[in-house]
Amino acid sequence: TYHVKELLDKGKEAISQEVTVQGWVRSFRSNRFIALNDGSTIKNIQVVVDFENFDADLLKKINTAASLKIQGEVIESQGSGQEIEVVAKEIIILGEANPDDVQETILQPKQHSLEKLREQAHLRFRTNTFASVMRVRNTLMFGVHKYFNEKGFVYVNTPIITGSDAEGAGEMFTVTNFDLDKTPKNEEGKVDYEQDFFGKHTNLTVSGQLEGEVAAMGLGKIYTFGPTFRAENSNTTRHLAEFWMIEPEMAFYDLDMNMDLAEDLLKYVIKYAVDNCADDLQFLAERFDKEQTQKPQNERSELTLMERLDYILNNEFIRLTYTEAIDILKNSNHNKKGKFTYKIEDWGADLQSEHERYLVEKHFKTPVILFDYPTEIKSFYMRLNDDGKTVRAMDILFPGIGEIVGGSQREERLDILDQKIERFGIDKEELWWYRDTRRFGTVPHSGFGLGLERLVLFVTGMGNIRDVIPFPRTPKNAEF
Ligand code: 4AD
Ligand code: MG
Repeated sequence: TYHVKELLDKGKEAISQEVTVQGWVRSFRSNRFIALNDGSTIKNIQVVVDFENFDADLLKKINTAASLKIQGEVIESQGSGQEIEVVAKEIIILGEANPDDVQETILQPKQHSLEKLREQAHLRFRTNTFASVMRVRNTLMFGVHKYFNEKGFVYVNTPIITGSDAEGAGEMFTVTNFDLDKTPKNEEGKVDYEQDFFGKHTNLTVSGQLEGEVAAMGLGKIYTFGPTFRAENSNTTRHLAEFWMIEPEMAFYDLDMNMDLAEDLLKYVIKYAVDNCADDLQFLAERFDKEQTQKPQNERSELTLMERLDYILNNEFIRLTYTEAIDILKNSNHNKKGKFTYKIEDWGADLQSEHERYLVEKHFKTPVILFDYPTEIKSFYMRLNDDGKTVRAMDILFPGIGEIVGGSQREERLDILDQKIERFGIDKEELWWYRDTRRFGTVPHSGFGLGLERLVLFVTGMGNIRDVIPFPRTPKNAEF
């Protein structure tokens, strides 16, 4: 028994072998040619059926979306496109599919919109586009693990349920086992979390960073890679309420080393996908390039998908400070002509994604690492610079995506950390365990977070983050 990919990879070597293949019917042409797909590759294997040899009742059941088990002989393909095909000797219908019902679904072989695919999210694994994206996603994840493993990082699993708000942004989903209609109240009339499962207020993690730092303070170089959750009510093509984040944390790394690592990781995993997903990327690239031609000139990508990936691999990312970026933005014609929704007036403003994308797509036309942001617009744990007003933060901005990585050198000095904790209005007692790492042999250290789905978006050229995760979670959408 073969996976279709294995068999096609064998190619001519497999000729005259007896094989078994299983899969779903994509099409059945002229009562003679079945295009069978099993998800292992975007390619179908062609199965040739001599209808004289089979029961008419059985042939009637070979419809699009039905599942089959076929035994037959591999022969050299007569047509173009592929080297081999299978002549069926035995056909077993594993699961029928009623053609009238199939007609109503995205299983019907024709171009369906991505919106339509989302509405039938449970069936989209059978479509070429989504299956390709899923295979590329898998390869990227594997590449991430391979990279860190080769570099001696320890993979640490940080908790999904936590008592801390790592980003301090208050965008958390509470975890409770209370019956919400009968929540016990304490003396002040507030919900008494002491009676809750964990005896305190807990939430789904927004980032594994704080726990990752604790682990790095013993293991040296670690990474976490798991689901993270944000209750941010932003219905955009770049935000999910549940997304996967890759978060390395390294003892003895300063911000420059942190930037070097992030750039190296991105290049490594993108190359890994280019090298290992040729068929899927070729298909997705055609899709992307065609889509670009239908866009207005000013929204079009100047590069094809493959050129864009190639460009990343062969060019250094530009590194510049927040202050330099603000100067560029402020003095840009775009800003002066009022073309930004949020005009850049002063130093200190948080950059909106329109500004980030202007820098990357219009000004530099290359990935950019921005660093040394104002203290006020970044999280409490970032290391304060000597100027007293900026922190050692870095964001990596990608064309077509905007922010793909956010990271920093961490504040390792307990006294300054405590000042920040106080200034940000965070409960110091809650962070006793985090503060302890600064009390017992503190060291300079750094880390960052790479959003997996934003990476998949970039590599596949897809436009909506809902189309690069198996089961997207967004506001008002958690169907199954
Ligand atoms: O910039 P963020 O919020 O950084 C952190 O969480 C740090 N604690 C990471 C660290 O230093 N260990 O998020 C990091 C990245 C973003 O750059 C983006 O790629 C992704 O996570 N991200 C999201 N992806 C999808 N949907 C969302 N709602 C996202 N929020 C952040
Ligand atoms: Mg960020």
